[in-house]
Amino acid sequence: ALLAQPDKLIITSQLLDVRSGKLLADQAILLQQDRVHSIVPVAKLSTAEQTLPRTDLSGYTVMPGLIDMHVHLTSNPAEHGYRRLQQTPARQALFGVTAAAATLNAGFTTVRNLGAAGFADVDLRNAINDGDIAGPRMRVSGPSLCMTGGHCDNNLLPHIYQASAAGVANGADAIRAKVRSNMKYGADVIKFTATGGVLSRNTDVNASQYSLDEMQALVTEAHDRGAIVAAHAHGLQGIKRALQAGVDSIEHASFIDDDAIKLAKRQGTYLVMDVYVSDYILQQGEAAGILPESLAKERTVGQLQRQNFNKAVKAGVKMAYGTDAGVYTHGLNARQFSYLVQWGMTPLQAIQSATVNAASLLNWRNTQGQLNVGVLEAGAYADIIAVTGNPLQQIELLQNIAIVIKGGHMVKTPD
Ligand code: ARG
Repeated sequence: ALLAQPDKLIITSQLLDVRSGKLLADQAILLQQDRVHSIVPVAKLSTAEQTLPRTDLSGYTVMPGLIDMHVHLTSNPAEHGYRRLQQTPARQALFGVTAAAATLNAGFTTVRNLGAAGFADVDLRNAINDGDIAGPRMRVSGPSLCMTGGHCDNNLLPHIYQASAAGVANGADAIRAKVRSNMKYGADVIKFTATGGVLSRNTDVNASQYSLDEMQALVTEAHDRGAIVAAHAHGLQGIKRALQAGVDSIEHASFIDDDAIKLAKRQGTYLVMDVYVSDYILQQGEAAGILPESLAKERTVGQLQRQNFNKAVKAGVKMAYGTDAGVYTHGLNARQFSYLVQWGMTPLQAIQSATVNAASLLNWRNTQGQLNVGVLEAGAYADIIAVTGNPLQQIELLQNIAIVIKGGHMVKTPD
C-alpha cells in the first residue's frame, strides 16, 4: 500500500538489519509522520528527498528500538514482600512515571507489561499515548489471572483480612469472565500464572496452578478477543500444560526439559527466560524486602534456568527478550544481553530476541498488517536507537544507548 510522501529523514552510516543480521552502509531512513516510509541508500535519495529536514546519525550503529517482553513498570524494586502492601495502584502508577522514562532512556521503546494491580498499567500506557509523560509504547495485561492462593494472589495476610487479588478466578467460566473483564478495562494481552512463583509467599514453583481445562478456556477466550497469552511457569508440569493449552509464550520456563523444548519448538511457542534477574535477587533482594522463603526458592531456580536456557537455544526454540524489570531496577533492562550471550546465544540472536522476534510474538500490526515495532521497515513506528561501536561484536554496548528516537522524535540525546 502507498504511504503519503516522506516528510523527514535520518542519515545513517551503519544500519543493522535485524532480520538478516547485515550491517548496511550509508542508508537513509525516510519518515512519514511517526512511521518509517522507506529505507534507501543515501546515494539514491531524490533531489526532493535531499531537501527534507534531517537528523544525522553517522558514526553510530543504528537499529530498531529494543523491546522488553516482561516488565512491571508499576513495581518499585525497593518495595518487595510486605512493603508492597503499602503501595496503592495510584502510587504504583506514579512510580511508573519514572520507571517508564528510565526504560525509554535505556533504548527500550516498547514493553509488554505483565501484571499490575488496579489496572495502573492501563493508565500508564494511556498517559504515555496521550503525550502527558515520556515512556515506551506499552502493551499491557492488567491484573494477572490465577487461582485462589496462586502466584498472582495476595497471600501475605491471614484470612481475617480477606485479601484477594483482582485477577483471581477459579473454574473455566469464571476465568472466561475474568479475561473478558480484563479486556473491557483496557488489557491488550492476557497473563496468567501456571505454577507457583519465587516472589509470592507460600507458593511452590514446582506446583501447577490451573487445570488443563481452565488453561484451555483462558487461551480460547483470549484468542477470541484477539489477545496473546503469556503463561508464567517455572515447574515442568505447568510448563507442559500451558504449552498444551496453546499459550503464545512461557515466561521464566525455568525447569523446562527436552520433551517440552521439543513441543515448544514444534508449536512455535516462544520462551521468555529472564536469566539475569536471579543475580539481583540473590545479591540485593534481602535489602529490598524479599522474603527469606523467596530467596530460598531463587537458589533452586536461577542456575537451572540458565542451563535450560542454553539447551533451548541449542534446540532452536523461538525466544523473546524479557527481564522482569520491576523486580530489579528499571532502566537496567539491557543488562541481560550479555547473560544471553554467555549462556549460548550469538549477539545477533540476542538482538533479534529483543527486536524482530519479540515483535513477532507481540503480533502488534498496523492497518496494513505490517509490524508496528521491532523492525525498521515501511509502516513500522520510527522507533530507533543509536549505539557507539558494534553491538554484534560487543553486546554490552547495548547497556549504553547514545540516542533514542520514538515515533520520529528524539527523546534521548548523547550525554
Ligand atoms: N516474578 C518471578 C517469580 O516470582 C521472578 C523469578 C525470578 N527468578 C528467576 N530465576 N528468573 O517467580
